Parts: sequence; C-alpha cells; structure tokens
Amino acid sequence: MILDRNAFGVWSFIAKRAFKATFLRPRNGEAARAICETLKETNVAVYIHIPFCTGTCIFCPYTRIPIHRSECERIIEKYVNALLREMKMYSKITKDLSLEVVDIHAGGGTPSLIPGKYWKIILEKLSELFEAEPKIAIEANPEDLRDEAYTSNLVESGVNEVSLGVQSFNPKMLKILGRRHSIEDSIKAIENLRSAGCKYINIDLMYMVPEQTLEDWIKDLETASQQDVDEITCYPTLITPHSIGYKLIKEGKIPTQPSRKVFKKMVYACEDTLPPKGFKGVEIYGYSRRVGWKYVTVNYEMEGPLLGFGCGAMGFTGGYEYINTHSVKDYIDSVLNDRLPIAGAREVALVERAIRYTACRLFVCRILNKKDFRLKFSRGFNELIGRTGFSKALRLLKITGNIEEGNERISLTRKGFFTAHQICWAFVLNVPCRIAEEYLKKPWPSKVVIP
Ligand SMILES: C[S@@+](CC[C@H](N)C(=O)[O-])C[C@H]1O[C@@H](n2cnc3c(N)ncnc32)[C@H](O)[C@@H]1O
Ligand code: SF4
Repeated sequence: MILDRNAFGVWSFIAKRAFKATFLRPRNGEAARAICETLKETNVAVYIHIPFCTGTCIFCPYTRIPIHRSECERIIEKYVNALLREMKMYSKITKDLSLEVVDIHAGGGTPSLIPGKYWKIILEKLSELFEAEPKIAIEANPEDLRDEAYTSNLVESGVNEVSLGVQSFNPKMLKILGRRHSIEDSIKAIENLRSAGCKYINIDLMYMVPEQTLEDWIKDLETASQQDVDEITCYPTLITPHSIGYKLIKEGKIPTQPSRKVFKKMVYACEDTLPPKGFKGVEIYGYSRRVGWKYVTVNYEMEGPLLGFGCGAMGFTGGYEYINTHSVKDYIDSVLNDRLPIAGAREVALVERAIRYTACRLFVCRILNKKDFRLKFSRGFNELIGRTGFSKALRLLKITGNIEEGNERISLTRKGFFTAHQICWAFVLNVPCRIAEEYLKKPWPSKVVIP
C-alpha cells in the first residue's frame, strides 16, 4: 500500500469533508488587527520554522529547501536577522496585551543547523520583547549533533529539549529513507546531548518504510528503548504526492510500503513493546518515561494560542489562523520592508476551536478531560460540542467500542487506538500537508481552499 491521503478509507473521506477551510491573503493591516483582537489568552507558545536541510529525504512532506553546508553561515545569518525583525513586529502589534511566552519550539527543516550563538540571540530577543524564559526545544538531525563541541554549545545557548531524527537503527532503512547519517552518529548525538546536560531528549522513529518487516520494526523499538532517552516518537511514513519517494514508488523504481495488515500490526507493536520497557503512552505516537513530561508540539498547533515565526510557519491565536509565505526570499523581503509575511489567513469560530481541542486531546493525547475543557472554554463540553456533527461522530465511535465515556472523561479503547491513528494521519495528510503543498506553489496566492 501507499500511505497517502486516500489510504484511510472512510477516515480520508471524512477528513476531506469535515475540515474544509478557505485561506485568503490578508489586506494591509488586516492580519495585525485580527491577531491583536483574537488573542484572548496572555499565555502563548512560539513556533519558529527553520526551512533548511543539507539534503533531501525522499519521503519528506515538510516545507524546507536543501542548502549546501558551505552556504549555511551566510544564509542563516540573513534568515536569523529576518526572524528578529518579525518578532519585533509582533511585539509592537501585541504591546498592550502583556503576553507571556510559555513555550518556545523550533521545527523544520532542520533547526539544529542553526549554531548556538544564533539561538542565544533569538532567545535574548524573545525575552526582551515578551516575558519569556530563554529556553527552547528544537528538532535536530544526528548529522549536526555528532560533533561534541557544537552540541554542547547549543545546550549552553538555551537549547534544553531536543527531538532527534534517528528514524531507525537499521542501516537499510536509513538508506531507503535517504538519510545522511549512520546509526553510530545517532548514538553519538544522544551521548553528546546527555553529556552537555540537555534536559529532555526525544528520538523520532519511522515505520512503514518500504521493505521494512514487522520484525525489523519491533527490533527498532527494542533498540530505541535501550537508549538513554526520555521519549520515543513513532511516525508512520506518510507519502505526499509532491515527495520524490511518491514518484519513485509510482514509477516502480522502489518497492511500495508494507500492507495494511502489517500497518495495523506495526501500530500495535509500539503499544505492546514500549510500555513494558517503562515508556508510557503520552500521545498515540509518543511514549515518555518522564512522568508529566512530553515533547509538546501538536497541542499548541491545534489548540492555540501559538505565534508562528519564519518562512512557512503557521500561527493560531485561538480565533485566527495564519500561514507565512513559503518562499524564503519573499519572507525575508517582506519583513525587511516591515510587512508581516502572512500569505493566507482565516477566522476560526469558537465551536471549531472546541472541536480542534477535543480531537487533539482524544485522538492524539488519548484522553479528553471535561474539566480541562471547561477551564479552557468557560463552557461545558455538551453545551459547546453537543449539537455538532462531531458529537454524532463521537456517539458512533462509542457505540462501536472505539471510545469510552465517563462523567468527567472520554478515552480511547484499545480498538480505538488504531482508529485514532487512521483519523490522525488522514487529517495530517489532507489538511496540513495539503496547505503546505498549495503554499509551496506560489509565494502569495490570493485564495487557497483546503482540502
Ligand atoms: C522536521 S523532521 C526532524 C528534524 C530533521 N529535519 C530530521 O529529519 O532529522 C521531523 C520528523 O518528521 C518525521 N518524518 C519525516 N518524514 C516523514 C514522513 N514522510 N512521514 C512521517 N513522518 C516523517 C521524522 O521522524 C522526522 O524526525
Ligand atoms: S526529514 Fe528532516 S532532514 Fe529530511 S528533508 Fe525532511 S526536514 Fe530535512
């Protein structure tokens, strides 16, 4: 099979029907006004997108451009300057809101390509402009962190949580994925992070790789659980039509992915292998052995408020969702001319936000706590969600044994664990991946309709 946007049957169909959204290019001043008016909470998270990689992994669905190591320093210096300008613009827009930044996270692309000295500047700027602790969580490639001095410099500069793209402990899988690091590099990167004093280490693994067997995957999970890491995140290899791998599979140049039956077995292999080794399921794809901690990204993206900085970044105030231009050149030109680099935006109604919150808690974090819902929305769960189509879908999932409902919480059953995977990946492929695909076509489209 191919895990593309149509792979999840009824869930792919529902994702396409249920999450229709139209992004429009905002007029001058409109986005600044909307951001300011819709930010109702003072605690916000910050996301910084670093759209550079020193190569291309053939299935990668993210917004990134390949650059050569020799040009990194020049490009990064320009890009970081633009980021600082963008942050300054946001601090002006929100100057009367007394925002406190409670989480700073960088994704990509490859944030570990940015040396420590620049992270220090970025974090100092954020602390100067908002109330913020100079600490950041970044996604990292083992290629960058095999160097001990470079890694300890990152940690000294404020990088205190790292999500490392290990992907596999099997050289054949790394080769098929087009990774440019070895298993030894991954192990060295973990050691370097630990000895530098990094507070929290997550490693990403990928399954459903062409030619991977269920036994290969279980072996990877076991090897991962023996490493000195705090969290293990397991992603199925998702395939978008604009990836190189998609074309190679379609042309028969590389084998297709394992079957649907194997997919289900691989999903449950995570659930059956990691908890007995002390890693507790904190998301449907994430397992942590540090009580009360997880490498958080999806909650802020789905629930807000999140300020997104950088080329290709998305932000969500809670009532307004926006996306920056996906062209690095246009992003830099725009901020240097004192214009927000927002290419598309849309309003998000309270009920839609409540549904996003519920879907994220239940289908990603495994459990929805109705008390937390009331705290977030100052309204009851039934009052906000009760009369929506989403509520009918939840009833159906309950009747079919996918979820269980008590007075105060709704949680996934073991059967629902696989259903949640299908819902989650159908959504990812049909909504965020489609948004990125559309915005990669043109830097400033006037309108984008999703899916
Ligand atoms: C932005 S990357 C992490 C940092 C760095 N760019 C790297 O790859 O090492 C985020 C993670 O997405 C996952 N990923 C990459 N391609 C994927 C795909 N086609 N489907 C699902 N997850 C994927 C990988 O596990 C990767 O570590
Ligand atoms: S998986 Fe990571 S390193 Fe590979 S191309 Fe994508 S963002 Fe870059």
